[in-house]
Amino acid sequence: MKNFDVYPRYDIEPVKARGSWLWDENGEKYLDLYGGHAVISIGHSHPEYVRRIKEQVEQIGFYSNSVKMSIQDELATKLGEQSGYPDYQLFLCNSGAEANENAFKLASFHTGRKKIIVFERGFHGRTSLVVEATDNKKIQAPINDTGNILRLPWNDVKAFEEVIDESIAGVVLEGIQGISGIYLPDDHFISAISKGCKKHGALLILDEIQSGYGRSGKFFAHQYYDVRPDIISMAKGMGNGFPIGGILISPEIEPWAGMLGTTFGGNHLACAAGIAVLDVIKKEKLVDNAKTIGQYLMSELGKLNGVSEIRGRGLMVGIDLPVEAKSVRSKLLLDHHIFTGSSSNAHTLRLLPPLNITREELDIFLGSIKKVLSEELAISN
Ligand SMILES: Cc1ncc(COP(=O)(O)O)c(C=O)c1O
Repeated sequence: MKNFDVYPRYDIEPVKARGSWLWDENGEKYLDLYGGHAVISIGHSHPEYVRRIKEQVEQIGFYSNSVKMSIQDELATKLGEQSGYPDYQLFLCNSGAEANENAFKLASFHTGRKKIIVFERGFHGRTSLVVEATDNKKIQAPINDTGNILRLPWNDVKAFEEVIDESIAGVVLEGIQGISGIYLPDDHFISAISKGCKKHGALLILDEIQSGYGRSGKFFAHQYYDVRPDIISMAKGMGNGFPIGGILISPEIEPWAGMLGTTFGGNHLACAAGIAVLDVIKKEKLVDNAKTIGQYLMSELGKLNGVSEIRGRGLMVGIDLPVEAKSVRSKLLLDHHIFTGSSSNAHTLRLLPPLNITREELDIFLGSIKKVLSEELAISN
């Protein structure tokens, strides 16, 4: 049998990883400024993470949500404390798309309404309703066209205020738009959304799947603003590679039995991974590191020739280039052994390194991108 061939792949096979580094089968070493799609938060194979998962699987790896699981309570307590939402409720699932599907469903259950407002360039996943919420026609099948998603321009308060009314179940936005190339919400935009939601009884849903878990230099990127969402969706950095996602749910939303459900969500192993991530983030002060080292990275990038614009917060950084990001990315990988990310904007390079990356490691990248940019600019002139 062959795999369903949907991804363009580099001809490199990582077989070992530690911290911000990967090794291929020939022992060649690569620096990881992409974190496998913003997933690696505490660094590859962190010893505390490995220990927790090993010990857990030796005891019990899985049982269904039909039994008592104090490990879920431990995760919820720690997450509540570290995120600043101790009074919220946690529903656990397995991926970002699933977290958003549950968020949309919950907004609809809670309000009795059907419509969800989303924004241009947004990405919310590839499953049924959330793929319709994702601004990419190519990945939407005819069955995904429910007509319940209203897409509005980003950072356009007037367009939002014209549409928000009593038919809207929820409004969803990314804490920082990721895949489209790192775009921040304006202060007045996010605050108008929050006010509009309150006024018309719609739920504010913050998709923090990419921008959450410390990446922005705060636990959640929306915490740079004075807003308190009704639902926050999370995944990626939450498990440092172990598939786990979830939503934080405001105390005003009351559950009833069977309202949301899952077989695998919140299993023992996933919780062990999630707890290890939170413990390491706390012990190693990784949210602060993301902030300070991210500032360093952005200020050093600003000194480079050939960078048109830099956007981001913490370790979620978009670099606009006058040349195609694709060739810069390939040269960084093939000539300098550095993984970086693309975005749906052909000229934007995306950086999403582990939150414990060091200044020395970033300096290696800065030296390499300087060289690659001067070569690329010489070719294009
Ligand atoms: C902001 C955002 N939301 C949702 C998703 C979907 O997450 P998953 O791929 O885990 O389903 C992603 C994935 O890249 C994302 O970046």
